[in-house]
Amino acid sequence: MKKLEGRTAFVTGAASGIGLGIATALAQAGVKVMLCDIEKDALDKAVAGLRATNADVDGVVADVSLKDNLQRAADETIARFGKVHILVNNAGVGGGGDYGSWNDAGWNWVIGVNLMSVVWGIEIFGPLIEAHGEGGQIVSTASIAGMIAATNPSYDVTKFGVVALSEGLRPKLAARGIGVSVLCPGIIRTNILDSRRHIPGRFAGQIPETEADGPGTEMLQTITNAIASGIDPLYVGELVREAIEGDWPHIFTDLQFEPYIEARFAAIREGFDRIRDRVPRH
Ligand SMILES: NC(=O)c1ccc[n+]([C@@H]2O[C@H](COP(=O)([O-])OP(=O)(O)OC[C@H]3O[C@@H](n4cnc5c(N)ncnc54)[C@H](O)[C@@H]3O)[C@@H](O)[C@H]2O)c1
Repeated sequence: MKKLEGRTAFVTGAASGIGLGIATALAQAGVKVMLCDIEKDALDKAVAGLRATNADVDGVVADVSLKDNLQRAADETIARFGKVHILVNNAGVGGGGDYGSWNDAGWNWVIGVNLMSVVWGIEIFGPLIEAHGEGGQIVSTASIAGMIAATNPSYDVTKFGVVALSEGLRPKLAARGIGVSVLCPGIIRTNILDSRRHIPGRFAGQIPETEADGPGTEMLQTITNAIASGIDPLYVGELVREAIEGDWPHIFTDLQFEPYIEARFAAIREGFDRIRDRVPRH
C-alpha cells in the first residue's frame, strides 16, 4: 500500500507495547485507527493520547480469543469508519506452562489469543478488505520464537503457526489485492512479561506458572532486564508502517537472533544431507 493517508486500520493489542507503537506510527501517517484491546483503562488512555495529537482514532474493547468479540469489534469498526484497509493481528500473551507443568487451560489460553485470533481476524476482516476493492494489508505479530523454538512450548507453537499462516496465505491473498506480512520482533520494551494480567475469567486459577513467571527467579530477572532495555515499540511501529508501504513478507526488528536462525537452517540442511545419496523406494 503505497499511500497510507486516509486509509483505516484495525489493530489488536493496541493499548500497550508493540500494538500501541504500530497504532501510533499509523496514526502519525494519517491512517484512521481502531484500537482494540481487552484492557479498557489502558485502551481509553491510549485513545485519548492519540486524539491529543489530532489523530482520527477510536477504541473497542474485545477479548480476541473469542470469535464473537472479534466479530463485534469488526462491526463497530465498519460502523465508525466505513471501511478497513489494514488489519494488524498483534495481541498476544506469553506463558501457558512448560513441559511437566502445562495443562489444557494453558494451551487453550495461549492458542486462543496468539493463534486463533489471527485465524479469525483474517477470516472476518479479509472479506471486508476485499469488498471495497481498494486493496489492503494484513500484518500479524509472530516473534523470533516463530523462527526458532526457544521459549515456552505453547508460545513457540502459536508463533510458528502465525508464520506458517502468513507465509501460506501471502500468494493466495496477493491475487485478491491484499498483502500479507509477518512481524517477528526480537526483544522489545513492553509489558509482555506481565501477560498473566489478561487471563480471562474462564481460565481463572488454571493457568500454570512457568519458571520464568516465578517471582525472584534468576531466569525471570534475566528476561526482565532484557525486556527493560529492549527496543522501543515506537521504532517497531515505524518499521511496520514502512513494511505496509513496501509489502514486506517478513518484518524483523534487529539482527540479534539471526545466528540462531542460521543454525536452525543448518541443522535442517544436515537432515537433507544425511539422506542425499539415497534413492527412496516408491
Ligand atoms: N515484547 C517482546 O519482546 C515481543 C517479542 C516478540 C513478539 N512479541 C509479540 O508482540 C505482541 C504484542 O505484545 P507486547 O510485547 O507489545 O506486550 P504487551 O503486553 O505490552 O501488549 C499486549 C497487548 O495485548 C493485549 N491483549 C492481551 N490479551 C488480549 C486478548 N485476549 N484480547 C485482546 N487484547 C489482548 C494486552 O492488553 C496488551 O495491551 C504479542 O503478540 C507478543 O507475543 C513481543
